[in-house]
Amino acid sequence: MSQASASADVPSIGRRRFLNLVLGGSAAVTTLGAAYPFLAYFVPPSRGGAGGGVSAKDALGKDILASAFLASHQPGERELAQGLKGDPTYIVVTENREIASYGLNAVCTHLGCVVPWNAAENKFICPCHGSQYNNEGKVVRGPAPLSLALAHATVEDDVVQFSPWTETDFRTNEAPWWS
Ligand code: FES
Repeated sequence: MSQASASADVPSIGRRRFLNLVLGGSAAVTTLGAAYPFLAYFVPPSRGGAGGGVSAKDALGKDILASAFLASHQPGERELAQGLKGDPTYIVVTENREIASYGLNAVCTHLGCVVPWNAAENKFICPCHGSQYNNEGKVVRGPAPLSLALAHATVEDDVVQFSPWTETDFRTNEAPWWS
């Protein structure tokens, strides 16, 4: 065997092994793909998956734990978290220092700015065009046409959860405009 043909064999063996690996790998992917619906049946849904709910996340994307949150927040505070569909959503601390049963979507109903909480004024005041919302997110001054959207807020296994609010808006006694 010449030196040239020996060196030509090396890459061809390499190619064959590579092809075997690729073909074997794709067979495994195909098998796993077919098995996925079967396996998924046995995997419990992730936390908060039921009813379209999600766990509230902090700025680092971590679940917000109610115990730690309440230990570091005063009654009446409103703090932004990541909520349904990734929308910035306020967690509300009640006067009894509990997580309120509703969260407030912070997206201004005028043109979509994120509305900051103003504790001194006890209101949400939009910096973009001056719309104001009371401490429950009900619009009290335009140009915003509607109140901040609501979400249900609950605590499960110490994790704060948001889920869609499809019932009557308790601030206006009207159907929810957002659902
Ligand atoms: S976007 Fe908030 S007032 Fe215009």
